[in-house]
Amino acid sequence: MIERGWIVLRSMALLRDRPVGFTEMFLDADEPAIVVQDSTLVDRAARGKGVGRSLKAANLHQLERITADTAAGAHYVQTWTSQSNAPMLALNRQFGFRVAGTMHDAERAV
Ligand SMILES: CC(C)(COP(=O)(O)OP(=O)(O)OC[C@H]1O[C@@H](n2cnc3c(N)ncnc32)[C@H](O)[C@@H]1OP(=O)(O)O)[C@@H](O)C(=O)NCCC(=O)NCCS
Repeated sequence: MIERGWIVLRSMALLRDRPVGFTEMFLDADEPAIVVQDSTLVDRAARGKGVGRSLKAANLHQLERITADTAAGAHYVQTWTSQSNAPMLALNRQFGFRVAGTMHDAERAV
């Protein structure tokens, strides 16, 4: 990914040295204005205790540091979340994400 001009920002949560969650973002050198917030996952046993919020906060902090250092020109962080994913929708709202569009899957019978 680095060879293709991508920077990966990743944060991991540890509970007594055991990984219990991670989140990652991608910055594309060819499209620096848009940062892609990709997967976030918290171990079921650790959910609802603020781990997801801490992970996203840590990654956004890393992003601010990187854009300050490299003047990468990031303007937006984009992400995709299912409309049924109440925890992540709540988190996104708290971090200032707003709905910019709705995606629909299409299928046909074969
Ligand atoms: C989404 C996910 C990462 C959240 O992690 P978490 O550590 O449980 O999140 P937090 O504890 O920081 O809480 C986030 C918010 O969700 C809320 N929440 C938690 N469970 C909830 C539920 N079942 N319904 C509604 N809201 C819920 C919390 O109350 C909190 O909001 P609040 O502070 O306003 O109360 C975790 O549920 C997960 O790994 N889910 C499966 C993978 C996934 O869906 N990833 C995101 C793909 S876009």
